[in-house]
Amino acid sequence: MNACIRAVVRTGIFRGLEVYGINRGYEGMIEGDIKQMNSHSVSNIIQRGGTILKSARSSEFRTPEGRKKAYESLKALGIEGLIAIGGDGTFTGAKIFYEEYGIPTVGCPGTIDNDIYGTDFTIGFDTAVNTALAAIDKIRDTAAAHDRIFFVEVMGRDAGFIAVECGIGGGAEFVMVPETKTDLDAVVNTLKSHREFRSSSIIVVAEGDELGNANEIMAMVKTKVDNPAKDFKVTTLGHIQRGGAPTARDRVLGSRCGMGAVDGLIAGKAGCMSGVINNEIVYTTFADCIGKSKPIHPDHLALIEILNI
Ligand code: F6P
Repeated sequence: MNACIRAVVRTGIFRGLEVYGINRGYEGMIEGDIKQMNSHSVSNIIQRGGTILKSARSSEFRTPEGRKKAYESLKALGIEGLIAIGGDGTFTGAKIFYEEYGIPTVGCPGTIDNDIYGTDFTIGFDTAVNTALAAIDKIRDTAAAHDRIFFVEVMGRDAGFIAVECGIGGGAEFVMVPETKTDLDAVVNTLKSHREFRSSSIIVVAEGDELGNANEIMAMVKTKVDNPAKDFKVTTLGHIQRGGAPTARDRVLGSRCGMGAVDGLIAGKAGCMSGVINNEIVYTTFADCIGKSKPIHPDHLALIEILNI
């Protein structure tokens, strides 16, 4: 997100605009926690995770009164355009605010979950996947040394993109994601059939899987595998996936989306998100970003099954 903020600030200044940064998202907009940015405000941040502008969930912005206060804050500073970085919740708020007050707004896709329609990838996804992958590689050493079956839980409340990507990259035996129904018996049967020639297994579970979290799924599998000597373990990766130095891909994507958002606003775009599809900046309406779902490519799901032979 810092790469994106940096690109918004510097592109805006390059194009002759005044740029302001709003702290803590919609909450800061309501409170008027807004400061003017110059090119040095975003120096030395491209390599840092998180966001220098901080982030917050705002229940007040969900109310018309809250949004009115936010509008007053922008009006007081003469702000004529808004760029919102975030996911579903951010764009839902941005859409309503734009419809109510008409301040041209363009979004940038910022979520590690990659579940936003209108962009091939979201800012943070690649970094999260690589963090999870590095963890899986390390876990595999213990799994192999001790002949264990590991359930690794990754983030993804509603989407399995992280799980699928690090599952393929990490050579997982199975990946469980919210988008597809997992046949637990098939998992158990494969684990049993693997036993003769494969001593350890890695199963990646997206936190939003319909069967439950990794601990619950492990408990279910354990009762079905008739090998009491087998060691089952769970590792939940949690918030380590949401931080750390961003990958090159994320820095470039954040920078491109940020520049695209500023140039979009200048060109008269509004009520839409600046994303990258097939290496080109594409503007997709907030309605589509929120309303349409982005499916996991079926080839990716097939790959996991095929490579697990
Ligand atoms: O929405 C992105 C996400 O990373 C989810 O995958 C995860 O469930 C959630 O954020 C965690 O959010 P929080 O930090 O508020 O617990």
